[in-house]
Amino acid sequence: MIEQLALTNFKAFRSAEIPLAPVTLLTGLNSSGKSSVLQALVLLRQSYDASTLFSADGQSEEQGGFLLNGELLELGTGQDVLHEDFVRMPNLPAPLIRVGFRTSDGRDHGWAALYASEQDVLPLYTASPVPHVESVFNRSFQYLKADRIVPATSYPRSHQQAIARGFLGARGEHTVNYLRHHAQDTMMSAALRHPEARGSTFLDHVVAWMQELCPGVNLEAAEIPGIDSVRLSYGFDGTAGLESSGRRRPTNVGFGLTYALPIVVACLTAGPNSLILLENPEAHLHPRGQSRMAALMAAAAAAGAQLVVETHSDHVLNGLRLAVKKRAIPAADTAVHYFRRQGLRAEIVTPRIHDDGTLSDWPPGFFDEWENSLEQLLD
Ligand SMILES: Nc1ncnc2c1ncn2[C@@H]1O[C@H](COP(=O)(O)OP(=O)(O)O)[C@@H](O)[C@H]1O
Ligand SMILES: [Mg+2]
Repeated sequence: MIEQLALTNFKAFRSAEIPLAPVTLLTGLNSSGKSSVLQALVLLRQSYDASTLFSADGQSEEQGGFLLNGELLELGTGQDVLHEDFVRMPNLPAPLIRVGFRTSDGRDHGWAALYASEQDVLPLYTASPVPHVESVFNRSFQYLKADRIVPATSYPRSHQQAIARGFLGARGEHTVNYLRHHAQDTMMSAALRHPEARGSTFLDHVVAWMQELCPGVNLEAAEIPGIDSVRLSYGFDGTAGLESSGRRRPTNVGFGLTYALPIVVACLTAGPNSLILLENPEAHLHPRGQSRMAALMAAAAAAGAQLVVETHSDHVLNGLRLAVKKRAIPAADTAVHYFRRQGLRAEIVTPRIHDDGTLSDWPPGFFDEWENSLEQLLD
C-alpha cells in the first residue's frame, strides 16, 4: 500500500507530503488541488504503461520520461505542470518535477523529471526501479475521472483494455464489456459480497449494489453480434425479466444509474494490492446512494484495495464515518484531507475520523454549508 505521496513542483504543489490510507477522501474547494493528487499517481502509471518510466543513461537512443499526454491524462506541456512558484534546484539546468511515494514496508520510490517548457515528455533525471508489486503499476489499477460514460445505445468492445488489462477506462468506457466478460465469474471476495445478492456471480453482486441506488433494478451486458460493440440494458422489479419487453436501454433510464455503474464495477474489482482512484463517485446520485457508495468503498478496502477518492459530498463523508462506526473499516484505515488554496499553493488540513465516527476537527469551509445555511435560515 502507498502510505504517503510526495510531490515537488507538481501543479498546485510546491512541496507536499500527503498521507494515504486504505480509503482516503480528498475534499475541499474547487480548484484546490484534489484532482492533481490523483493525476500525480496516474502520471506514473501512464508513463509506465508507455514504457517511459526510466531515466535515460545518455548512451541509449531511448528516451525515458514523464509522459504528460496519453490515454489516461492530458496534462499539456512542462509549463502547465511545473508549479508556478517552483522550488529552485541549484546546479541543475532546470527545476525538477518529482512524484514519489512511500510504501507500507517503509521504502521510498521516486521519479524526478527535468522541466522543459514546451515538451510533453519530460526527461527523467532520477528514477527508482519500478516496484512491480506495487498497486500503481499493477494490473488491478482503476482510474475513473469525473467525466464518465453517459447512457448510450452501445459501448466499445476492446479485448485489450477490458479483458487483457482488466481496465475499465478513465471514463469507464470499457465497463460494460468488462461486465459482459466477467458476468458469470464467481465473486471471490467475501468482503465485497452483498448480503442481498441473488446468487454468487459477479453480475449478481453488481446488480445488488446497483439496487442500493435504485431498488429493483436489474442489468445485462451483452455483445452486439457482428460489430465491435456491446450493449447494456436495464430491467426493473424482477418481473421485468431481461428477455421481457420490460427491458430498457440506458438512454431510457435515469442518467445516474449508468453514470454510477463504472464506480460500482471498479469497487467490485477490488483485491489485495489494487489501487482505485475515483473522482466524484457521488455525481448524479441521490443522497442515500452517495452514502452507500462510501459503504461500497469501505468494502473494497476490506477486500484489500486502496482507494483515493475526490469528493464534494457530505453524504460520502458521512457514509465513510458510518462505516467506521459500524466497524466495516477501522478508523485508522481512513484519511480525510481538506484542501484549500493559500495564494498559489495548495494547503492541506487533515481531520481524523474517530472510532465512533466523529471527526477530530471541522476546519472552516469543510462541509459546513448545512450549518451556515441553517444559521441564516433560523436567524
Ligand atoms: N503549474 C501550476 N502552478 C501552480 N498552480 C497550478 C498549476 N497548475 C494548476 N494549478 C492550480 O491547481 C488548481 C487545480 O487543481 P485541481 O487538482 O484540478 O483542483 P480540484 O480537483 O481541487 O478542483 C488550480 O487552482 C490551478 O490554478
Ligand atoms: Mg478535481
